[in-house]
Formats: sequence, structure tokens, C-alpha cells
Amino acid sequence: MTMTSTALSGFIEQAAAVNRGRSEPADCVLALAPSMLALIDAAAAFLEPRHYKSDPQCYARNLVYCAPDNSLSLYALVWLPGQWTPVHDHGSWGVVGVIEGVLEERNYVRLSPDRGADRDIELVRGGVILLGRGAVTSFVPNPDHIHMTGVPAERPRAVSLHLYGRTMSSFNTYDVAAGTRKRVEVAHNESWARAE
Ligand SMILES: [Fe+2]
Repeated sequence: MTMTSTALSGFIEQAAAVNRGRSEPADCVLALAPSMLALIDAAAAFLEPRHYKSDPQCYARNLVYCAPDNSLSLYALVWLPGQWTPVHDHGSWGVVGVIEGVLEERNYVRLSPDRGADRDIELVRGGVILLGRGAVTSFVPNPDHIHMTGVPAERPRAVSLHLYGRTMSSFNTYDVAAGTRKRVEVAHNESWARAE
């Protein structure tokens, strides 16, 4: 095993242990944020060219690791200038670390109570956060963390690592003006070979 994969496998092992041992999402992100901070420095060594794959149509989600039981996933996201997510939530805890560029997060605050309904959702725009290289951020569900992230057209490419407490194959997207949300399936590039 190389030194570089040791950094990644150590991080994954710790994340799996934390995920197994804690029921509170806030405790998971509290425990793993410092590890993401350390992983950023090791990222250039363990990420391969396939993890930096970009897509001119949409920000690229390149899978780095997925737990066999879908309890954990790690992606390298590549954001070209002008690429943004829709307004969304996650349905999971997550820890994000920026390894290149500046990732912009535009937050939304939910004014209406969350009764699990997909309509009559009142969102207002909240603050903006600029996450430069080395920055770590995190979120927990219930109440959901609602935001859009991306890179404005005038800024260069950004690359970020995203660890989630499940396989992130779907999430809620919001139509802010209509006050509705819907669950969407999201694709990723299967750049990680699942170990049997
Ligand atoms: Fe997000």
C-alpha cells in the first residue's frame, strides 16, 4: 500500500467507525471535519486524473469511494466557471473540503415549518460563504441545510471533496419562486472500482 492510499483509506476507516458509532449527525461532522482538513493536504497525492474529470454541461461528480452497504460515499466535484447546483438539500450529514479554487455557497433559510410536504415551502435568501482552498464546511439534516453551490463565471475552476453519510444518488431540489421541491436522481462518474 502506498503512502497516498494510506491517507485515503485511513480517512475512510475513521469515517466508517464514526458513522457506525454515533447516532447524531452533528457528532459525525464534528468528529470528521478535522480529518477532512488533513485529507485536503493529501488529496493531490491520492486523486487521479479521472477524479478531475469535468463536464462542459454540468459540474462533474467523480466517485472516489462508496461503502459496500451505501452508508458512506466520497466524491471529487469539479466545478467549471459558471457551473452551479440547483437549490437543494442533502438528506444526510456531509463534510466538504476545498482542494482547488473558491467554491461559493449561497444559503437559503426556510421560513415555513418542515412538515415533509413538497409544496408551500417558503424560502428566503440567506448569506453567502466563499470557501477557498483548505476550507472545510459541513451540514446535518433535520432541519435540512438548503443552499446552492458553484463557481461564478468570472472565477476559475474549483475542485472539492464531499463526504456523505449515504450514497448521494438523489436529493431534493427546490423551486424557490413556486415554493415546491422534488426529489431528483443524480448521476456520478463511476471512477472507483467497488471492492468485493
Ligand atoms: Fe449541497
